[in-house]
Amino acid sequence: MPRSLIASLVVGLILTLFTMPGPRHGFESAVQSLTHWSYYPNRDMRNTVGVPAQKIVNRGPDSSSVPTIGRELPLDRDVAAERLHSPFPSNEASIAKGDSVFHKFCVPCHGMAMAGDGPVAANFMPPPDLLGQQTRNRKDGYIYSYIRNGGVIMPSYGFQVSAEEAWNVIHYLRHMQQTSPR
Ligand code: HEC
Repeated sequence: MPRSLIASLVVGLILTLFTMPGPRHGFESAVQSLTHWSYYPNRDMRNTVGVPAQKIVNRGPDSSSVPTIGRELPLDRDVAAERLHSPFPSNEASIAKGDSVFHKFCVPCHGMAMAGDGPVAANFMPPPDLLGQQTRNRKDGYIYSYIRNGGVIMPSYGFQVSAEEAWNVIHYLRHMQQTSPR
């Protein structure tokens, strides 16, 4: 092979190594990125964080991520009760959406009839009857804060149940309180 060809190959390789874009997609260096072609875009499996599928919904956003729609700060429940109101009115569609969110996330503890007798409730402090007088008297904002930030035992649903879904659940809860008197 002529020397000039070898020389241009070497120069080409060096140029490639040093003009690669900066570290992205989990690889650490340009050299490493060239030796890990097969795993694009996560070329470096050693440094890639493995997240078990069933846990992924529990992860908060990365600490370095920038919220594009603003960040909601946790509010004290009594402050939330005074300040927060549903940004949209209750209607059939929002009640139906709230129904499905409730059945997905809340029934295990609160039970199908909201009486606090869900299948896992017996393992710890049983939740109050959501159709009972106590919860009827709670303000919407109070319940919103309960869903988004959790209670004493009740987990926080801030990452699984979005703000809009939480208001849908509240519309559903109010609808149930009106239609199923205790
Ligand atoms: C792991 C069980 C569990 C799940 C799941 C759960 N809760 Fe709770 N919830 C509780 C317990 C226990 C309480 C009692 C107080 C506490 O823990 O702070 C409670 C309290 C509440 C209260 C306060 C009632 C009051 O009048 O003080 C509301 C409202 C509520 N839950 C709504 C929901 C909604 C809506 C969901 C679904 C998004 C949900 N919960 C999911 C266990 C649960």
